Amino acid sequence: MDATVPPEDRALAALAARGRRAQWSADREVDWQLPVRPPRWLTRRAYVSAISQLYHGEVATIRACRRLADEISDPAARDCLEVQIADEMRHAGAYAAYLDRLGGVAPIDPAVADAHGEGTTWNGAPAALVVLYHVVLEGEALMLHGDFRRWFRCPLFRDINRRIEVDEARHVAFGRLYLRSRLARMPADQRLDIYRWVPAGCGGRPPSRPPNVIGDGSPRPGG
Ligand SMILES: [Fe+2]
Ligand SMILES: [Fe+2]
Repeated sequence: MDATVPPEDRALAALAARGRRAQWSADREVDWQLPVRPPRWLTRRAYVSAISQLYHGEVATIRACRRLADEISDPAARDCLEVQIADEMRHAGAYAAYLDRLGGVAPIDPAVADAHGEGTTWNGAPAALVVLYHVVLEGEALMLHGDFRRWFRCPLFRDINRRIEVDEARHVAFGRLYLRSRLARMPADQRLDIYRWVPAGCGGRPPSRPPNVIGDGSPRPGG
């Protein structure tokens, strides 16, 4: 590779190449013959609603990545975003097909809509959107996947999710890599603007847990 390319761009190019090699087909590689087994401790409606929030999160992330790909000028980052858009489209399709077997996608939870909609209020440097979508929301989605893996034993859901989790970890890695170099180069006042905005972008909550996707009053694991 060209020695004049900065190391962070080389790392982004390597990540995009890894993402391209890791593309998979939901039609061919998920075993759609596996049984669908919603948990017994949760109503079917609440289960469908919880899984539907993953679907809505994917659709919102596709929109965010398209916007970022328009606003970010550097080719290595745009390459990563293009791969991510293909990933998220595959994820949304796989969740939609799974939810079809349970009667269809449930409406988006207002908290999920708010968290993703917050990006539309930002008009500054695109790095803020990377903080919101790739670090906060993708990071929370990864934690949620971990929770769902422990709570939900549906064989088909698990087969879909284990593939999606690998892609999501790559998206979080993109956010970290991109921000490490771009934030360091940014004027201090712009960085401060981002730090001030992002907590609001998380609805004022610390970025540690996602909105309540199970729905109020529904039984919890072990509860
Ligand atoms: Fe995804
Ligand atoms: Fe993602």
